[in-house]
Amino acid sequence: MILVTGATGHIGRAVVSDLALRGREVVAMVRDSRAAAGLMPPGIALRVADYEDVSSLGRALAGIDEMVLISSDGDAKTVMRHHANVIETAGAARLRHITFTSIVDTDASSPFYFAPVYRDAEQRLAACGVPSTIVRCGLYCDFILDHWLQPSHASGELVLPAGQGQIALVSRDDVAAAVTAVAARPDVSGDLCTITGRQASSFGDIAAAYAEAVGGPMHYRPCSITEYMQWASARLDDPWPQAFASLCTSIAEGRYNQVSGDFTALTGREPESFRDFLGRTTSAIA
Ligand SMILES: NC(=O)c1ccc[n+]([C@@H]2O[C@H](COP(=O)([O-])OP(=O)(O)OC[C@H]3O[C@@H](n4cnc5c(N)ncnc54)[C@H](OP(=O)(O)O)[C@@H]3O)[C@@H](O)[C@H]2O)c1
Repeated sequence: MILVTGATGHIGRAVVSDLALRGREVVAMVRDSRAAAGLMPPGIALRVADYEDVSSLGRALAGIDEMVLISSDGDAKTVMRHHANVIETAGAARLRHITFTSIVDTDASSPFYFAPVYRDAEQRLAACGVPSTIVRCGLYCDFILDHWLQPSHASGELVLPAGQGQIALVSRDDVAAAVTAVAARPDVSGDLCTITGRQASSFGDIAAAYAEAVGGPMHYRPCSITEYMQWASARLDDPWPQAFASLCTSIAEGRYNQVSGDFTALTGREPESFRDFLGRTTSAIA
C-alpha cells in the first residue's frame, strides 16, 4: 500500500490518480474526508491525518509500505515542523520507501527563505532509516502564472528583484508525472532526481510568452529589493513578501537556471514548455 499526503492538493490529487491507474493500491491522506471524497477517484481509501498531529500520522501510516510526501506550505517554522513530524513517524513505522518533493535550491549559502526548510527535511530523510527518493522540483509554471504574471496583468509590467536571472519552469502536472514515475518504481529511481523544464528562460522571455498567450502587453522590469518589499508588504501577508523577495534573489544568483534530463529519463517524454503551458491555461484570462 502506498500513501500519498497532500492528496486533496493539485500535485497529490494527480499522483493519487496516476498511481491508481497504474494498478497500485493507493491510500490518500487527507484532513477532511467529506471534502476529499468528491476529489478522489472511486475506490481510493482515505486516511484522515494532520501534519500537526503526530498521533493522527501514526494511525494513518499503520500498515503502509511506501509513502509519497508532498511538501507542506506555510511559514518556514510550520513547514519544517510538518515535514519533521511525518518523517519521524514514517521512520518509526519502518516504511519501505518515501518519495519527497523538495526544491532545487537547498544550498546552505542560498538566500531563499525556504532553503533551510528543505535542507532540514532532506537531512531528516537521510537519517530516518527509510530509503527515500528526493525529487527536487524547479519552480512551477503555475506558481509564476498565479502569483507573478496574473497580478501584473492590469499594469502590463512584471516588476521583480530577479535581475537577469533565468528559470527552467516546470508545470505542476509534469511534477506530478515525475513523482508518480518515481513512486511507481522506487527500486530503480535512485535517491535524488531533479525535475525542471527543458530550457531556462529570462523573465523578459517569460513576460513576452505571457503577452503572446493573452494577446496583451507584458514586459519585465527588474527592480530593487526595497522597491519590491514596499509593493509586496502592502499586498501580501507574512511570510510571502520576504519569501518571494528572497526567491527572486536566489533566481538572480542563478540558482534556478539548471536544466535536468531527469524528467525525460523518468517519463520517456519531454516536459511541457512554458508556452504550451500558457496555451493550455490562459485562454480564459484575455
Ligand atoms: N516549486 C514551486 O514553484 C512551488 C510553488 C508553490 C508551492 N510549492 C510546494 O509544492 C507543494 C504541492 O503543491 P500543490 O500545488 O499541490 O499544493 P496545494 O494544492 O496547496 O496542496 C497542498 C496540500 O497539502 C495539504 N495540507 C496542508 N496543510 C496540511 C496539514 N497541516 N496536514 C495535512 N495536510 C495538509 C492540503 O490539504 P487541505 O486540502 O486539507 O488543505 C493539500 O492537500 C506545496 O505544498 C508547496 O510545498 C512549490
